[in-house]
Amino acid sequence: MPTQQPQQQNDRSQSTLPPLFVALDMGEPDVAPLMGDLAGLNVGYKVGMELFYQSGAALVRKLAKDHPIFLDLKLHDIPNTVQSAAARIADMGVRVTTVHAAGGEAMLAGLPALERDDFQFLAVTVLTSMNEHDLTGLGVLDANPAQRVQRLFTLARNSGITGFICSPLEVKSLHAALPEGTFITPGVRPAGAKADDQNRVATPAQAKRSGATSLVIGRPITRASDPRASTQTILDELAHG
Ligand code: C5P
Repeated sequence: MPTQQPQQQNDRSQSTLPPLFVALDMGEPDVAPLMGDLAGLNVGYKVGMELFYQSGAALVRKLAKDHPIFLDLKLHDIPNTVQSAAARIADMGVRVTTVHAAGGEAMLAGLPALERDDFQFLAVTVLTSMNEHDLTGLGVLDANPAQRVQRLFTLARNSGITGFICSPLEVKSLHAALPEGTFITPGVRPAGAKADDQNRVATPAQAKRSGATSLVIGRPITRASDPRASTQTILDELAHG
């Protein structure tokens, strides 16, 4: 029997981020049917580049009125530009938003001052689609993904950032170093699901046990024949797993 999940609440304290953000990597016409299908489940939604560049801030503001929204634009530019963009995002009503830690300390340094109880920055360490071969190809000296994640984590922490996106394989050591931090992990695949283009993956229960605060899952839900059932199975695994 699936466990009944509490009714969706747009509670804005970080401690009550939903256990799962469903990645809305789709065009706007597909959003309302999916959200209708998942109504009442304890999930938030991640708006990434695909949807944002199609439908923009107006849609984000609308969704944020009723749901916890994770805006995933992975800012990475000169400090002044990122600071200005981040200030705009801070007014959209979203709960969390991403910046690349690889932008460096000067780019990250001004961001914590924009945070509130209901709004936090997450530093992206190494994309979960990247492996050692990819990092070597970029000419990165510490091409081991775990070492690279650690370096970027330390850099972001030194800039006052306490929220992170990282793979479930690396969240354990980061969580141990910053137990009060927010750790959101993509690269999660229920047992038996296709990895797609993700390289460093784990199951929902493994990610949670390793210290993930919330998970981000896209295709295993959005491309499932029954997205609600897939979501409920993942929430059950998180509750009991
Ligand atoms: O479909 P899938 O579950 O792989 O979707 C994962 C989502 O998390 C995508 O929207 C992707 O952009 C995002 N993401 C990621 N790795 C990161 C940061 C975000 O996969 N490091």
